[in-house]
Amino acid sequence: MKSTLYRAWLQYSPVQDAELREAYRRVLGTIVLEGRQSELLDSAIEELRSGCRSLLDIEPELLLLGNEMPQLASNEGISSGLQLRVQPAADNVQDLEEGDNSAPGKLGPEGFRLQYLGDSLQERVILIGGSEKGLLYGVFHLLRLVAAHEPLTAWNVTEEPVNRLRMINQWDNADGSIERGYAGRSIFYRNGRFTNDLTRVKDYARLLSSVGINAISINNVNVHEIETRFITREYLPQVAQIASVFRKYGITLYLSINFAAPLHIGGVGTSDPLNEDVRRWWRAAADEIYSHIPDFGGFLVKADSEHRPGPFAYGRDHADGANMLAEALEPHGGIVIWRCFVYNCMQDWRDRSTDRAKAAYDHFTPLDGRFMDNVLLQIKNGPMDFQVREPVSPLFGSMKHTNQVLEFQVTQEYTGQQRHVCYLVPQWKDVLDFDTHAGGQGSYVKRIVSGSLHSMKLSGIAAVSNIGDDENWTGHTLAQANLYGYGRLIWNPDLTSEEIAEEWTRQTFGNDEAVIKTVCGMLMKSWPIYESYTSPLGVGWMVTPHTHYGPDVDGYEYSRWGTYHFADRDGIGVDRTAATGTGYTAQYFEPNARRYETLEDCPDELLLFFHHVPYSHRLKSGKTVIQHIYDTHFEGADAAAALLAEWASLEGRVDPAQHAQVAARLAEQAEHAKHWRDVINTYFFRKSGVPDEKGRTIF
Ligand code: GCU
Repeated sequence: MKSTLYRAWLQYSPVQDAELREAYRRVLGTIVLEGRQSELLDSAIEELRSGCRSLLDIEPELLLLGNEMPQLASNEGISSGLQLRVQPAADNVQDLEEGDNSAPGKLGPEGFRLQYLGDSLQERVILIGGSEKGLLYGVFHLLRLVAAHEPLTAWNVTEEPVNRLRMINQWDNADGSIERGYAGRSIFYRNGRFTNDLTRVKDYARLLSSVGINAISINNVNVHEIETRFITREYLPQVAQIASVFRKYGITLYLSINFAAPLHIGGVGTSDPLNEDVRRWWRAAADEIYSHIPDFGGFLVKADSEHRPGPFAYGRDHADGANMLAEALEPHGGIVIWRCFVYNCMQDWRDRSTDRAKAAYDHFTPLDGRFMDNVLLQIKNGPMDFQVREPVSPLFGSMKHTNQVLEFQVTQEYTGQQRHVCYLVPQWKDVLDFDTHAGGQGSYVKRIVSGSLHSMKLSGIAAVSNIGDDENWTGHTLAQANLYGYGRLIWNPDLTSEEIAEEWTRQTFGNDEAVIKTVCGMLMKSWPIYESYTSPLGVGWMVTPHTHYGPDVDGYEYSRWGTYHFADRDGIGVDRTAATGTGYTAQYFEPNARRYETLEDCPDELLLFFHHVPYSHRLKSGKTVIQHIYDTHFEGADAAAALLAEWASLEGRVDPAQHAQVAARLAEQAEHAKHWRDVINTYFFRKSGVPDEKGRTIF
């Protein structure tokens, strides 16, 4: 029996309400499946059966109708039950259901339509998938509705994912470690080998598929020695096994590759993308991969970034590099996802003219239009690196002729490392709802990455995973909400953070209204709380170097990473204006450029990202910068302690194992928040000499 911690949001806890349970049992007791059997349908049925078993304590009767069978007319066949059907590939679904007058249009291949049709004689639910995959998503949706105790009469939805590529990036290494992983070791690898037991991989696939994820890269973007060989005959059979687990849940497998593979393992003597032998090598590598994995997705590439090899070594640019790989994958339908996290990581801190925030834009915008159709550029949400607060990367919208993927970080590298609770969906929503003005007003990031603004061949969203082999997958049980929320949000960016939090809470902890209210409230507060006791006003980076956990205000101040706050006795912040600073603001479209450039218009929460100001500068809130720092840090630490108290009030209302797990993490957070508070406040008091107006203790 899998534990509650392990089951995450697929708890399928028994429905206790007798009336509701009976209603569900009536329609889910018989399942009629029309269509040929397939792996995806098998998964859908398996999930449905185990869901029914666990939620309703029934073993549904399954009736299989082959494609050759006549379709069930509305008034014959089963009187009550669930009818599953896959929309004929090239067809319109006009004959959907005679009893249904809403005449739905054609579903996309990943879409589904779920409908309750009940009258006094019969009660039926029809679930139609745009394809087998759509049907699988529909089954997960149906189970979600049952878990949330949604009444049958409210079951009437047509869903289509807004983004085509919905991807997870594992940063797992073959040795079993996970770069920036905070939830144990890899579920894929151990001691340089693939794990033999794929149970956990399968359950991960279920979790991902249940929220609509359709792509995964299974190894770290920093590709080390063993992983460089994943694309060879030696490892491909094992990669293929993993691919087959994910395939059953509609998830396509990708690999991160080493750009220097031809040099290191190919015996070619170079990795120059314009060298004919190198190109031939990659073509052969692609042929080999596809002979093992016919539906292989493609390559994820970190090149010329943080010492990873790339085309620069040969005087070539990113388009040369990406296109070479794209050419090798193209005959097989594969794609190249090329990351834009490119900057000078050997900067001299004395050099005030170089600005890391500008780097991605400067590198990539001149290449717009040069990438092949099967290349996508993967852009981190902000110009720096997943800080608790950053502006949106100005690359979004600036390349009208290039496919783009947005990259989020679900793993909480800079947001408390899954020891602190930090529900990131509101942060991601801010990014998706940001109006770039690239094509006039309304040019939201979500419209760029969904491909609706510049009609890209392919686009979407990717994120770095937060799971490992900890029993609860994510270290902090509340961090499961980030993985869940990521999937749900990129399926439909118009869902609200609150809706997603509530869905997750109901499925994870049950339908006790007091629990839902408390947990959702805690989640919604958690990002602002974390922000308040860590680095202020968008300045970022006041963390312990390398581990990135805990405060160290000057940890990166004199380093080569291009991450500075420039605090002195008079003031703090980075002048990125065009008038007097690095000129970063000019990378935005108007009116954003002017808004960030102008001190009076720049939003408070990003003030120190764009401007260097005296501590006495007054924020829009009316407070001075220094008083804001003191206030937010005192309040933030108090708020962290209050989270613990709120959670304590739920003892006895949630599963004891879940309760204890979260309580332990919240206790640690409350302590650590005090440490953050005192380090930050003391640092700025000593720098500025300005006392706290409220006379609180600063050391
Ligand atoms: C961050 C992170 C690294 C990672 C890098 C990347 O800098 O700290 O561990 O490799 O991002 O996204 O490539």
